[in-house]
Amino acid sequence: MRKQIAAANWKMNLSYQQGEELLKEILDTDLGLKDNQEVLFAVPFPYLLMTKKMIGDRRGFSVAAQNCHHEKSGAYTGEVSAPMLASMQVNYCLVGHSERREYNNETNQTLALKVDQCIENSIIPVFCCGEPLSVREAGTQNEFVSTQLRESLFHLGPDIISTIVIAYEPIWAIGTGKTASTGQVQEMHAYLRAVIEDQYGKETAQEIPLLYGGSVKAGNATELFLNPDVDGGLVGGASLIAVDFTTIIRAMK
Ligand code: PGA
Repeated sequence: MRKQIAAANWKMNLSYQQGEELLKEILDTDLGLKDNQEVLFAVPFPYLLMTKKMIGDRRGFSVAAQNCHHEKSGAYTGEVSAPMLASMQVNYCLVGHSERREYNNETNQTLALKVDQCIENSIIPVFCCGEPLSVREAGTQNEFVSTQLRESLFHLGPDIISTIVIAYEPIWAIGTGKTASTGQVQEMHAYLRAVIEDQYGKETAQEIPLLYGGSVKAGNATELFLNPDVDGGLVGGASLIAVDFTTIIRAMK
């Protein structure tokens, strides 16, 4: 059965103490996770170890980095490599979030290298894709997003790509309160699965969890997650409020 994931993306928010409090509240809540359901916390680098310790051996919870460098080591002051994350037993890493694509000039080509770094170090990449508003308005979102997949992921073999996670996040819906309609989300997710199927076959395409991100809230998560090709969410703002995020976790089908 395909994995379902509710992923919190804290971005550059919360003090260390606020992070601890938030985690405590969430982890103390009885969430009734099913065997195929997982909760990820993509926290700032200095909070990774604390998050890992707080999770302890609870089943269904994992820690994620928000980024890693595309080289394995070297003179890159201020950067963090995938081998460093692996040495801290970090299980997941976001790759290619649209904010990093925009503010840190990440290209599909450098993201392909980051994906490789993650895989070489047994870290599951959560590969983020999604179109800006101008592309949606021009009606070329399918080509735009499938190019992101092709250029950053399609060099992977079928046995590898089937282990990763993809998050579709239309940029115009991130942090704007403007959620894509459930119809728009299902349409894109079905399209992405079809693109993967064309390249790798049905079995592989069916194995990859496709998350939706962009103003996922306690009030819209159930409707979004009911879509057959939506396997959970990547949640920014609403993941910073315990009751909102736990409601979103429970909305997984
Ligand atoms: P948002 O952010 O939920 O605040 O829109 C989602 C994301 O950027 O991952």
